[in-house]
Amino acid sequence: MCGIFGYVGSKNYSEIVLAGLRRLEYRGYDSTGLATISNASLKIIKDKGKVNNLSALVSKENIKSNIAISHTRWATHGEPNKINAHPHAAGNLAIVHNGIIENYQELKKFLSSKGVLFKSETDSEVLAQLINYHYSNQSPLEIAVMQALKEVSGTYGIAVLSTDDPEKIIAAKKGAPLIIGVGDGESFVASDTTAIISHTRDVIYLKDNEVAILKKNSLRITNLDDETKKGEMTRIDIELSSIEKKGFDHFMLKEIFEQPESIQNTYRGRIDVEEGNIKLDGLNLSNEDIKKTKRIVIVACGTSWHAAMVGEYIIENLAGIPVEVDYASEFTYRNCIIEENTLVFAISQSGETADTLNALKEAKQKGAKCYGIVNVVGSAISRETLGGIYLHAGPEIGVASTKSFTSQVTALFLIAILIGRKHLISKSMAVDLLTELKNIPEKIKTLLDTSKYSRLVKTYFNAQNALYLGRGYNFPVALEGALKLKEISYIHAEGYPAAEMKHGPIALIDKNIPVVVLATNSQTYQKVISNIREVRSRKGKVIAIASEGDQNIKEFCDEIIYVPKTIEPLSPLLNTIPLQLMAYYAAIERGYNVDQPRNLAKSVTVE
Ligand code: M6R
Repeated sequence: MCGIFGYVGSKNYSEIVLAGLRRLEYRGYDSTGLATISNASLKIIKDKGKVNNLSALVSKENIKSNIAISHTRWATHGEPNKINAHPHAAGNLAIVHNGIIENYQELKKFLSSKGVLFKSETDSEVLAQLINYHYSNQSPLEIAVMQALKEVSGTYGIAVLSTDDPEKIIAAKKGAPLIIGVGDGESFVASDTTAIISHTRDVIYLKDNEVAILKKNSLRITNLDDETKKGEMTRIDIELSSIEKKGFDHFMLKEIFEQPESIQNTYRGRIDVEEGNIKLDGLNLSNEDIKKTKRIVIVACGTSWHAAMVGEYIIENLAGIPVEVDYASEFTYRNCIIEENTLVFAISQSGETADTLNALKEAKQKGAKCYGIVNVVGSAISRETLGGIYLHAGPEIGVASTKSFTSQVTALFLIAILIGRKHLISKSMAVDLLTELKNIPEKIKTLLDTSKYSRLVKTYFNAQNALYLGRGYNFPVALEGALKLKEISYIHAEGYPAAEMKHGPIALIDKNIPVVVLATNSQTYQKVISNIREVRSRKGKVIAIASEGDQNIKEFCDEIIYVPKTIEPLSPLLNTIPLQLMAYYAAIERGYNVDQPRNLAKSVTVE
C-alpha cells in the first residue's frame, strides 16, 4: 500500500527512480510523484495517475540530479489528485510517506496555531510540516525527523530530503516496510526489495523506530534518540526474471501458470513420501509441542482467509484438531479466548497486512504461541512470529492473489499431516496423502489450456451478478472464485455453501445469472447435484467444475470444466485454477487492467 523509492548516488536520478516506481506500482497506483534537488532548489513533479504519466512529466522537465525520493500512492486521506499526491513539501524539505499518522488532526491544529498553512488534505503533509517545524539548518535533517517522529502516533515508512542538507536522504519506519539497498557508491531506499535488486543484492530491512541516513558512500542507522544501531546486511537471492512478465500479457496470468512450480516449491524438501513424514523446521515446534496441540486459530484477510478456511477443513478432517478461522480485523477487537496448547497462525502473502499483523500482536498479548505462513521473506509477520513456513511461491505482483492461495493451501496440508501424524494419521495414510500431493503439479498443468475461456465468459459473464457454490473443502474455493471475479472484472459475485443457496440467494436466480458450481467427486456430490437442479429449475445457467469422466453431470449443466480426479482434501488445488482463469478472461473481455484493478493495492498496510 503505497510504494516509496529513493536514490542517492552519482547517476542521473530519472531512469533509476522511474524504474523503481514501476516495480512498486502494484502497491498503489492512484497518483505518483518525486522530489529532487537541482541547482540548490527543490523540484517536485507529481500528478494523479500512474508512473507513465509521471514519466512524461519528468522527460519534459529534463532535470539533472543525483538524488531523489519518489512515491506511488494508494489514497487514504484525501482523494487521488495532484495536490494530495506525494511528495509533500514544507519549507526546503520534501517527504514521501506510506502509512497513517493517527494524530494528524491534533498536530495540524498545533501547527496551524503557529501559522503553518496546508495545501492538501493528507496526514502526510502534516508530518512534512512537523519535521520542518523542528528543522533549522543549524542541526542536521535527521535530528528534526527524529524529533517529529517522537510526536506522531500511527504508522509510517518515510523518505525525506532537503535542499539545506542536499546530499542525504533520511528514511524511517514504523509499521510500514522500508528496505535500504547498499550499492557501490550509491544507496537506495524502497518499500520492497523488487525495486532494488536490479542495482544491488545487499539490503538492510529497517526495523520499527529506526532511522537511516543515506549518502552515496555511507549509511548510518540510528534509533529515534540518534544512537547508532547495527543494521543487519542480508543478501537477497530473488531472480530478476521472477519479477518480470516473461512473455505473458499480465502478471496474473503468469502467476496462474506458475502454480505447478510454486506448489512444488512450497513442499520441496519438506516431505518424506516413503516415511509419510513432514519436516517443517522453520516452525520451531518440538514434537512435544505438536503432540500437545489442542486447537488452532488462524487469522488472515482476503484470499489468505479463504486459504485458511480450506485449512480448517483439511486440519480438522485429517488431524482431528479443532480449527477456528477468523478475519484478522475481527479477531483483534473481539475477546477471543486463547486456551493453553492453542497455536495461532497468521497467513499472509505479503506478510505486512496491517489487519493480520495487529491480530498477531493481539494474540501474542494474550500469551498465544504465534506462527506465520508467509510468502515475502523477512516481512513484518515473519519477524513477529516464533516460527513459520515460507511459501517460496516467488514474488506475486498481480494484485489478485493466485499462486499464493494454492501455496498457502499446500502449506496447511503439510501442517495437517505434521500434526495428524501425532494424532490420527497412520504412516500408510500419510504416504498416500503425500503421494497424491506430488501428483498435483502435473494435474494442474492439464488445466492450463486457456482456449475455452474467452468463449465461456462471452456466453455467460455478460451479467451484473454471479454466484459460486461449493460444499466442504470447496465452499472456501467458491468464496475465492467469487472474490477473484469481483475484484478484477467488477461483476458482483457471491460465494455460498451450496446448501445455503435455498436460504436466500436463490431469489437472485434467473436466466441471466451464471452459477459456478464446484461439483467434483466428494462425499456430498449427490447433494451438490440436487443444488444444481434447484438452480436449473429456476433457469439459472450452471457452469460446473466436475471430475474427469463424470458423464452423469452433463444433463444438469450448461457448461462443464473437467478437472483431473484427486482426493477430496487436495481438490481445492485443482478446482481453483479454472476459477482464476474464468475471472482473468472475464476482466480481459471487459477491457480492464487485470494486474491493477481499481481501488485496490497489493499489500494493505492500513486497518
Ligand atoms: O498479503 P495478504 O495475503 O495478507 O493479503 C490479504 C488480502 O489483502 C489479499 O488476499 C486480497 O484479498 C487480494 N486482493 C485477493 O486477491
